[in-house]
Amino acid sequence: MVGVGRANGGCMIAETITIAKPDDWHVHLRDGPVLRAVAPYTARSFARAIIMPNLPDPVTTTAHAVAYRERIYAAVAGHGAFTPLMTCYLTPKTDPDDLARGFDENIFTAAKLYPAGATTHSARGVADLRGIYPVFERMEALGMPLLVHGEVTDPEVDIFDREAVFIDRVLSPLLRDFPALKVVLEHITTAQAVDFVRAQGPRVGATITVHHLMINRNALFKGGIRPHLYCLPIAKREQHRLALVEAATSGDACFFLGTDTAPHTVSAKEAACGCAGIFSAPAAIELYAQVFDEQNALDKFEAFAALNGARFYGLPLNDEILTLSREPWPMAEKIDVEREGVIAPFCAGETILWRQHGDMG
Ligand code: DOR
Ligand code: ZN
Repeated sequence: MVGVGRANGGCMIAETITIAKPDDWHVHLRDGPVLRAVAPYTARSFARAIIMPNLPDPVTTTAHAVAYRERIYAAVAGHGAFTPLMTCYLTPKTDPDDLARGFDENIFTAAKLYPAGATTHSARGVADLRGIYPVFERMEALGMPLLVHGEVTDPEVDIFDREAVFIDRVLSPLLRDFPALKVVLEHITTAQAVDFVRAQGPRVGATITVHHLMINRNALFKGGIRPHLYCLPIAKREQHRLALVEAATSGDACFFLGTDTAPHTVSAKEAACGCAGIFSAPAAIELYAQVFDEQNALDKFEAFAALNGARFYGLPLNDEILTLSREPWPMAEKIDVEREGVIAPFCAGETILWRQHGDMG
């Protein structure tokens, strides 16, 4: 259901677009004051979001997830209907029975695999996948999706190659060993990932962030080091960004929206050892629309933002709609967080070209 409004009857430039309300299939909401500050930005645009479990004390059990989900609902109260879809952080000690119970009771939608040491708060992740094969077997039998941070942690592997090497060394064997396991390769950043995901059957999907559609690795060093553009997987060469843009705007069912919005305070980003993560939620849906518009692909926007992910997860499509207009507005320089400081959003201080209806910016 895409409605594209046209100005001056006959002008071929779309001025508004209406789609089924989208979902964000990869979000970091954090906890405490940061959760309260950032969650409304995701809830304003998205009906549902897959919530990442990498809290400092990660969400490793059904009981953890129930408590965290309550805190998320409290943080978005008054910001419209929003459903957080919880994930379980896999560790070497994950209990397959607890995981299965959480999935059966609709507490867990999926489980997240962080290779130990790959990214923020991943120290309790999994170093040896064989050690949790019983968990994968159970998930395969249940039809429970496995969400994968697809980077090897081998320090010998160049940081720009870690995703491609992960596909060869880890993901291919995993898919071979579990031929019915549903897998999402999260936040893909390379042409290799695009080709790989396309070559699999419908049980493999991939999320694509808006920042990986907009920046390449040069942007990290434009005029000096840009800590606010540092995320993992790190942005790659321009040829890879172009492959991601082609994939997202193709409308292909295996690619869907996942912002990986990942807030860190300015003091944590602008540090000698700055944190990885880009806080894109304040203009995510608008910036995706901008990318699709630039490609003359607004007719594929609804598939990427609102249909493909829901179909992959086997969830109903959203009844609500969302309308965006071509209407420039300025992104804030920073967002205040009670007691913690400030967070700089993606595109801070820049002009955003599309605007969500009913949004106060
Ligand atoms: O840039 C990132 N930030 N990548 C991740 O995988 C984790 C995330 C975070 O939690 O900050
Ligand atoms: Zn993430």
